[in-house]
Amino acid sequence: MMPSLTNIVKCSFLAISENEAFARSVAVSFAARSSPTVTQLADIKCAVSEAVTNCIVHAYPPDRFDKPMVEMTLRHFDDNSVAITIKDHGVGIPDIKAAREPLFTTDTTGERSGMGFAIMESLMDNVKVSSRVNKGTTVTLKLRLGVPDC
Ligand SMILES: Nc1ncnc2c1ncn2[C@@H]1O[C@H](COP(=O)(O)OP(=O)(O)OP(=O)(O)O)[C@@H](O)[C@H]1O
Ligand SMILES: [Mg+2]
Repeated sequence: MMPSLTNIVKCSFLAISENEAFARSVAVSFAARSSPTVTQLADIKCAVSEAVTNCIVHAYPPDRFDKPMVEMTLRHFDDNSVAITIKDHGVGIPDIKAAREPLFTTDTTGERSGMGFAIMESLMDNVKVSSRVNKGTTVTLKLRLGVPDC
């Protein structure tokens, strides 16, 4: 049976680097109400940080977008899982499968290592990516919170 939605919070913010810390604080505050382990909170912080940083770094080339926004939606379900959706309206990803490969990056500055999606996948139970070129990208991070029954 599909878990039922028990809570939903939405926020949107300008795609600038100072808002990355804001986004991860919001996500951690949301998850903190649902008996997470310390490791789960740290994992959410890290995964949200990677997803939001991608919007800021890759989605909106500055010469093409004015006031680019990122939308974050946080959902909680009755199986104590959370789904965190991070959405931009930027350039999109032409080949999602390639983009998700560890070490794949389109960065040419040498500052990026191509590990963002691999990190998200290693920390979350499930990572869904959907994207359309010149429409934008949506990443959904799912994690069941709490200590599992033995
Ligand atoms: N929101 C997005 N919009 C457009 N392209 C994206 C977006 N997110 C990721 N990408 C593309 O997917 C590639 C892989 O992303 P990933 O986060 O794995 O690595 P990275 O951002 O290049 O490097 P790192 O995360 O290690 O700093 C990026 O180089 C970029 O081409
Ligand atoms: Mg990245």
